[in-house]
Amino acid sequence: MIWIEDLKKYIGKEVSIKGWVYNKRDSGKVRFVLLRDGTGILQCVFVKNELSDDIFEQADSVNQESLIEITGELKEFNRAPGGVELGAKSIKLITDSHNYPITPKEHGIDFLLSRRHLWLRSSRQHALLRCRDTMIRAFHNFFESRNFILIDPPMITPTSCEGASELFEIKYFDEAAYLSQSGQLYMEPAAAAFGKVYCLAPSFRAEKSKTRRHLTEFWHLEPEVAFLDLDGDMKLAEDMLTFVVKRVLEKRKAELELLGKKVDNYQEHSKLLENLSPPFYRLSYTEAIELLKKKGLTAEWGDKLGADEEAIISKEFDKPVFVHRYPKKSAPFYMKEDPENPKVVKNFDLLAPEGYGEIIGGSQREDSLEKLEAAIEYHSLPRAPLEWYIDLRKYGTFEHSGFGIGMERTLAWITGIHHVRETIPYPRLMDRIYP
Ligand code: 4AD
Ligand code: MG
Repeated sequence: MIWIEDLKKYIGKEVSIKGWVYNKRDSGKVRFVLLRDGTGILQCVFVKNELSDDIFEQADSVNQESLIEITGELKEFNRAPGGVELGAKSIKLITDSHNYPITPKEHGIDFLLSRRHLWLRSSRQHALLRCRDTMIRAFHNFFESRNFILIDPPMITPTSCEGASELFEIKYFDEAAYLSQSGQLYMEPAAAAFGKVYCLAPSFRAEKSKTRRHLTEFWHLEPEVAFLDLDGDMKLAEDMLTFVVKRVLEKRKAELELLGKKVDNYQEHSKLLENLSPPFYRLSYTEAIELLKKKGLTAEWGDKLGADEEAIISKEFDKPVFVHRYPKKSAPFYMKEDPENPKVVKNFDLLAPEGYGEIIGGSQREDSLEKLEAAIEYHSLPRAPLEWYIDLRKYGTFEHSGFGIGMERTLAWITGIHHVRETIPYPRLMDRIYP
């Protein structure tokens, strides 16, 4: 089997290539069939004068996405995709395809999402998911280079991590259980066991949000580190993101350019990515509120920063910005109270520039047994399912921090696309679980 991506090795040779019909073009005396095998696209040229009528005719009659095999001689041709072109001598239909629904014309987003299983074959989706592959590998490389241990969290859990209103409840034999919202609570004990750990797993959120950045199932990468405070946590996040962005820019230039054709301000966007380097900006929540007021918004200390506010803040900066130390009254139970100001917690959200908003949420964890017990009570959380988590504060409690970064929001930002629904192979949205 010869894959299209390897064809440069075969220049000057006769080869038979199997693939699906991606597109066809006709200029009277010459017909082009673009063949797709998943690894690349091969331009196959059929010249009328050099072929029997039968073969020339067949090159025209094959349908989009039929599986065919074309035999011919490979030539170097820099202007063709992949830098080679096949001078076709014969063509064989292997399996036919009729009325393939996704044609080169524009289709609506619902039409395409309902045909996601086929849409994956399109060049834009290819570019996006190749960038996703490179990005996720880069995350693993980064943590491997720092000797982190990969620890897999459970997906079925007895309790909530990020607030009960966003939980998917499932029936677990005779009990209620929940789909995990975050692996964090399980990473903390792992950090006591291994020092530096991370996980990459699906997280589930039953939020009734139909925005461009909400999925009900997303891939969540969460490091957790012993003896790390909030400052160290932010440093880890900016080093990680810089490493990952650099890797995607290096390895996926062609894909990013293809996607960029549909992005306003693409030049500006790529310049920003190319210049990405630590340190990112740091702004306390209190400063963020002041900034919003200065911009003429009616913001009060204590207000939540929603997507609109985040967009306004992040547009002020040419790099991602950490907003840190949010009000304690609306923070999750596990975040550490700031000893210098008990009204806030030692947490951060990282806002991506250009209005993308939050892509990372992190914090130093409450390591005092008393304070954690009080927080559990304050949030009226049932204590029994959290007993194991509380244990950690009884057996050598330790300073530790971590964060969570969503793969889809991060990919949407890096590739400059508007909505997260195309950044995951099979998106799960509030109103969509098909296919
Ligand atoms: O801010 P979140 O809710 O933080 C946590 O879950 C912490 N327990 C993480 C930790 O400290 N280990 O989620 C973290 C990130 C967000 O910044 C965002 O990138 C992503 O997860 N995320 C979502 N992505 C897509 N759709 C959703 N509904 C998301 N909710 C969160
Ligand atoms: Mg968050």
